[in-house]
Amino acid sequence: MAFDTTVLAVQPHRHATPLLAVLAPKGKMPASLRQLDDTLGGALGRVYACGDFAGKKGETALLHPAGLADRVLLVGVGDAKDLLPTQVREASATAARRARVIGARTAALYLTAEVLDLVSAKAAGQAMAEGAAFGAWDFIELRRKEDDERPLLERMEILAPRKAKTIEAGRLVGAAIGAGQSFARDLQVLPGNMCTPAYLARSAKDLGTRHKFGVTVLDRRAIVKEGLTALMAVAQGSAEDPRFIVLEYRRGGARKPAVLVGKGVTFDTGGISIKPAASMEEMKFDMSGAAAVLGVFEMLGRLKPKLNVVGLIPATENMPSGTAIKPGDVVRAHLGKTIEIVNTDAEGRLILCDALSYARRYKPACAVDIATLTGAVVIALGDAAMAVMGNDESLVEALRASGERSGERAWPLPMWDEYRELIKSQIADVKNSGGRPAGSITAGWFLREFVEGFPWAHLDIAGTAYSDRDKPTRVKGPTGSGVRLLSDFVLSRKS
Ligand code: BES
Ligand code: MN
Ligand code: ZN
Repeated sequence: MAFDTTVLAVQPHRHATPLLAVLAPKGKMPASLRQLDDTLGGALGRVYACGDFAGKKGETALLHPAGLADRVLLVGVGDAKDLLPTQVREASATAARRARVIGARTAALYLTAEVLDLVSAKAAGQAMAEGAAFGAWDFIELRRKEDDERPLLERMEILAPRKAKTIEAGRLVGAAIGAGQSFARDLQVLPGNMCTPAYLARSAKDLGTRHKFGVTVLDRRAIVKEGLTALMAVAQGSAEDPRFIVLEYRRGGARKPAVLVGKGVTFDTGGISIKPAASMEEMKFDMSGAAAVLGVFEMLGRLKPKLNVVGLIPATENMPSGTAIKPGDVVRAHLGKTIEIVNTDAEGRLILCDALSYARRYKPACAVDIATLTGAVVIALGDAAMAVMGNDESLVEALRASGERSGERAWPLPMWDEYRELIKSQIADVKNSGGRPAGSITAGWFLREFVEGFPWAHLDIAGTAYSDRDKPTRVKGPTGSGVRLLSDFVLSRKS
């Protein structure tokens, strides 16, 4: 059962629901809640009076007053002064996550008038729909249903006694982005034996059929024939055949497309430069860039904006075997440059560089790649932001701004020439690892060596793609990192 949101033009005290979540700003009880409070026998007022809730960001209070709602959940959005859609999104996610934990199939979300008046109604509708979808997501398919298994949250009703039309316009956008994000998380969460390159290709094909856009899949033979040698160098050690997936969404007339490239390593063992065993299972998430690109296409398919967007996904495993590439091997990539593969665990950049070279045929207005590329970015930025870098200041700035708006921060790293020196090879044009110093930047520089003729930027999501613990807004596991940022980016492009 897929999650959905609806907008209802009804007052919160007139609505029967298992859970009514009220998003309230920091401070005393908002005046707009008085009527609801009256119908609840003053229960809300007492929560405030007792000091159990003051609307602080992330703060919650759960009540069971007698009224039409079985439960009322107060959720703080923080200071009204610097209120952004992001706080509304997060509070909505917290509400949906609580509803999920409680086991409610439906819940209602009410944004107090005091908050609604501070953000645009459209942005509020979008933020509520995105947040609700984010908090509602969970994955239970691969385990037996226990007796106490709670049902998934299926629907969140947005109560909008005022501005219902505008809120609905925003909800439509937010629901599409939310669905894209959940689509990405559903792919991310699957283990490597299930989400193989062929599986990624099938779900791309399904997307194309469902939403009527073009999807082409190159199999191993076609990949070899096309000369995607660096992709093949990674794939040659695996029993699982690679795929190269091309998605073409064209509703923007003759304008040049934006090209999105997603790293689709369905499992990264490191290859012959094998990774340590501890936490290696997390490397099923090494296709999170591919998942993000597919999530954006799910969003495009639902919203049908007048845009041209091409998606490219090189998909493979990275395995050690008798046929695997060896440290020191040299290959000539699709672009024609030679690469000394000094570390087989730096495989993402190998498959991406061929995709960036392949992208030339689309004469891109710009290309953005997204990848769980380096452990170094986790050290640099943790899970607070992805890294962004590129060969074009204004493209990097546009992505940073999209990140800010969508609540998925992207922070720029410098691409000074000094860093380029680190990937010079003795015997080839370039080597695939510059070692530990500035590991995220040298990875970016490697990609840049294979970009010819268009503005390009790179998003490193290794720190944001998944998390190893529960948070108030979500379960532990995949986050769909990049779907909101890239959706904002493509939707705000005129070209
Ligand atoms: N998939 C990894 C990066 C990664 C690390 C993703 C942690 C998510 C969490 C990537 O392929 C990799 O192994 N990178 C190496 C590069 C090094 C060998 C130059 C790394 O970061 O250690
Ligand atoms: Mn690797
Ligand atoms: Zn990897």
